[in-house]
Amino acid sequence: MNKETASKIKELKEKHNAIILVHNYQIPEVQDIADFLGDSLDLAKTATKTQAENIVFCGVGFMAESAKILNPDKNVIIPDITAKCPMAGMVNEEGLKKLIKANPGAEVVSYVNTTAEIKAMSDICCTSANGEKVVKAVDSNKIIFVPDRNLGSYIQRLVPEKEMILWPGMCSTHHNIYKDDILKLKNKHPSAEILVHPECRLEIIDLADYALSTNGMVNYAKKSNSKEFIIGTEKDMCYRLKKENPDKIFYPLKRAVCPNMKKITLEKVLNSLKTLEPKIKLSDYIMEKAKMPLKRMMDMG
Ligand code: 13P
Ligand code: SF4
Repeated sequence: MNKETASKIKELKEKHNAIILVHNYQIPEVQDIADFLGDSLDLAKTATKTQAENIVFCGVGFMAESAKILNPDKNVIIPDITAKCPMAGMVNEEGLKKLIKANPGAEVVSYVNTTAEIKAMSDICCTSANGEKVVKAVDSNKIIFVPDRNLGSYIQRLVPEKEMILWPGMCSTHHNIYKDDILKLKNKHPSAEILVHPECRLEIIDLADYALSTNGMVNYAKKSNSKEFIIGTEKDMCYRLKKENPDKIFYPLKRAVCPNMKKITLEKVLNSLKTLEPKIKLSDYIMEKAKMPLKRMMDMG
């Protein structure tokens, strides 16, 4: 890591009463300057607990938006405003309105990987860590689930008693993980456990020992007796796993890269602390409406 840049970041952080929240897929240098490193649920929770005036969010747009919606009085700064999750852009308000109209009584469960506008139309949000719990908890037996059809199919399997209407979105980083990618590694390392993210297709989840959120992988790897793991998610997840479990081996899928997560660099973090820009800006109306489904999810614990 560039020590000079890191020490300037520390200095400016103190000056501006800022904290740096970092998602598990960020590049190693950015993970190393995190005040909090986590999955989307954990980072949203942390954002609600901080006393800091400025939150520098190293992740993609929807994550920073959630932090802003939950903390409308704080500055939420994303070091690269173009870092957006393409899957969050796959569901549009017009299409969702039509689906709601065609399915009276259905409740809308939106994965947090959605825009604030889509959250504002939703009954409750979920993440990959709590999707099953959220879907089980909603009153209606019919659910419109947006936007990830892979996560939706996985939850549908775990909650067969509910009817889930799935929006046809997907994350190309996870959707394009193939059986062969996993099996080649498993042949080379037969005693490795396979952990995959539930944004993968069901045939990949079927090969895995566990489908887990990114923090779920961190927690599992710590407690497991296994020494080797094949990690079916964004490749830089392995950086944190290795750092926290130096005696264990993690095999990444080298092709599994989220280009938007990689847009944030140490220099951009420094710049955002110098300028306190770019800030997340959302209308009060959208923030107010999007808060309810996020809060409902958070209140579930
Ligand atoms: P997690 O909430 O598991 O960190 O996942 C976020 C994400 O975007 C996965 O692609
Ligand atoms: Fe979005 Fe996929 Fe990147 Fe996660 S890995 S932020 S779902 S594009």
